[in-house]
Amino acid sequence: MSAVAASTGDGAACGARHVAIIMDGNGRWAKKRMMPRAFGHKRGVDTVREIARAARDMGLEALTLYAFSSENWKRPADEIADLMGLLRSFIRNDLDELVANNTRLKIIGDYRALAPDIVELIEDAMARTAQNTGTTLAIALNYGSQQEIARAAAKAAAKGAITPEAIEAELDTACLPPLDLLIRTSGEIRLSNFLLWQAAYAEMWFTDVLWPDFTPAHLREALEQFAARERRFGGR
Ligand code: FPP
Repeated sequence: MSAVAASTGDGAACGARHVAIIMDGNGRWAKKRMMPRAFGHKRGVDTVREIARAARDMGLEALTLYAFSSENWKRPADEIADLMGLLRSFIRNDLDELVANNTRLKIIGDYRALAPDIVELIEDAMARTAQNTGTTLAIALNYGSQQEIARAAAKAAAKGAITPEAIEAELDTACLPPLDLLIRTSGEIRLSNFLLWQAAYAEMWFTDVLWPDFTPAHLREALEQFAARERRFGGR
């Protein structure tokens, strides 16, 4: 049994160390209320905050959230600006809580291509939380899994060997535990270029719940179902 499963707290982690979530459905959530998409994204950030707290309380080692994909640049400029504004305010407003709660912030993806002020905020936030030993909150920004794998393979090749182990060591997630459970909200059943390598043996959990409606109870339900599954990793 892993240290996490053995840990007490509210005991809900049920053996999972690393959970990743494709946070989908903000736009539909807003549309149902006849509100602009930005309203859905804003409520989506409230859910990010709540689920990050829950992940910590449940004893997860890592929670990885898909916040902005390398394909999201195709969205209208005003929506991209809204998302970047929310990212800025999330880091500014929530960093003290992350520090106080021993949470380590990690960014995966090519975040250095974002606006210079955001890069500065990110690097400051990562530096301020780097020594924290609790849950790692990994946020995927300008992230595309195929690009990540290609970058990792190129780095592995430059060092001499293109083996699965050598590629894995160069992935953005190299410092995170193996991915146990991948959740996608809003009823879509696809991976959308998210953690393709890392998902090789992860369990999947899909729900129709739209991201702004996703609660810690949903996370707990997913973790309980994860704990009940038999993982064979290709064996029998
Ligand atoms: C997909 O829903 C969601 C996104 C592309 C963005 C997710 C971003 C957040 C939850 C907020 C920013 C996060 C942080 C960490 C500050 P969609 O809008 O495509 O929904 P739809 O499919 O219903 O239109």
